[in-house]
Amino acid sequence: MIIAIDGPAGSGKSTIAQQVAGRLGLTYLDTGAMYRAVTLLAYEQGVSFEDDDALGSIALDLKLHFEEDPAGPPRVFVEDRDVSEEIRSQLVTQKVSLVSAHPKVRHALTLRQRELAAEGDMVLEGRDTGTVVCPTAGLKVYLSASVEERARRRKNQLEEQGVCISLKTLERDLLLRDSYDSGRALAPLRKAKEALDLDTTTMSIEEVVAAIVSEAERRGQEDRERC
Ligand code: DC
Repeated sequence: MIIAIDGPAGSGKSTIAQQVAGRLGLTYLDTGAMYRAVTLLAYEQGVSFEDDDALGSIALDLKLHFEEDPAGPPRVFVEDRDVSEEIRSQLVTQKVSLVSAHPKVRHALTLRQRELAAEGDMVLEGRDTGTVVCPTAGLKVYLSASVEERARRRKNQLEEQGVCISLKTLERDLLLRDSYDSGRALAPLRKAKEALDLDTTTMSIEEVVAAIVSEAERRGQEDRERC
């Protein structure tokens, strides 16, 4: 089964998608990491964040792969360089919404994501995985949470990395990214009509994972009975 999990920044998608994939024995694909890698390479190569052609070429040529890491989330490699930390830097985080709105970038990465999803069952997470990348996914999930709660989660993550940013600044950054990601013309962040809608503001990670796993199992059972 393909499970597509979408939602705004800080709604818990990565943690939850990884745990759902682990519980169901599925591959996990972080589509945001691909947009982040293009942003990092553009910055390093001095490419303008306005240049659709040049950004599109970076996305088309992107040699990205993931490697399992028993100590945490999969590591992200561009060729043989581990960029897992750099793609999560503040600089990349602040620019990735701009880069991901470019049509040529989206076209190249969407094709790549569909090819990966065609290889077998997986859990994908991002902004448009249920609406555009895999519209026929067996289960679509839309995760949300209040901006205050999302900022608080981001602050905790950053503090673990020794970075201190005020809650107000984080809330402002999140609202800005939300407006870019939901307001762009192409593949904006939207809840798919049929998505399981989970507001995670007051839910624990375990509760969210359990809700998704049980829905996936219920649908899997229905499919088997239909055969
Ligand atoms: O999930 P994330 O924060 O790592 O995603 C980074 C950015 O990439 C996000 O602000 C919007 C973009 N993105 C996208 O446009 N489509 C996706 N499927 C995944 C991410």
